Amino acid sequence: MLILKLAVEILILWVCYILYMAILVHRRGPLGGIFFYPKCVQDRTVELGCGGGRNAGALLKRWPDAKLTAVDYSALSVEKTKAYNREQIAAGRCTVLQGDVKSLPLADESFDLATAFETVYFWPGLTACFTEVCRVLRPGGTFLICNESDGTDETGLKFEKIIDGMKCHTVEELSAALKAAGFSGVTVDHFANKPWITVLARK
Ligand SMILES: C[S@@+](CC[C@H](N)C(=O)[O-])C[C@H]1O[C@@H](n2cnc3c(N)ncnc32)[C@H](O)[C@@H]1O
Repeated sequence: MLILKLAVEILILWVCYILYMAILVHRRGPLGGIFFYPKCVQDRTVELGCGGGRNAGALLKRWPDAKLTAVDYSALSVEKTKAYNREQIAAGRCTVLQGDVKSLPLADESFDLATAFETVYFWPGLTACFTEVCRVLRPGGTFLICNESDGTDETGLKFEKIIDGMKCHTVEELSAALKAAGFSGVTVDHFANKPWITVLARK
């Protein structure tokens, strides 16, 4: 009887955990993907194509001991990221740089984790840019890509036609470019019923 009660309690806890994760992903969009990878080392994170800096802020909140460098080639994005993360910058945990992913202003092997949320669509030459990401990661470091388009969905393909230079890559294209750039152990999670993808690669 006691064992049965214990089993039911464990089952309830497990269901609550799954529901919690589902709500997290639903609320946070692709950034939710990162919550499924608590084991990747993130002490020194570089957030590429950081836009307004909200994901940088969420990562700093998620990992309070980590330091993060945010990079974007747009001066406006750099300013917005600085404003959004001003407290973390003052605390010495966040640095924001203007730079292009095709030639990052960062030292070799200086990061544990590189993240790219909704940005690789715009990168000029996937393999060359991924090679640059590989350069700044330490051996064993992780590269995480989150996209809301898997390169086959109607919305993504519609945006491709409207936005000059945008390309919604398929999982196969991303995996091939990552491998050509020197990454291994590429894994892809595809969100059920949505074209959201999380791609993880190891250096
Ligand atoms: C759709 S926004 C996504 C912003 C942010 N990552 C997010 O999820 O909210 C794409 C961002 O990537 C940046 N970006 C595009 N190409 C880039 C490049 N070659 N180097 C650096 N940043 C780039 C853009 O300036 C823009 O801020």
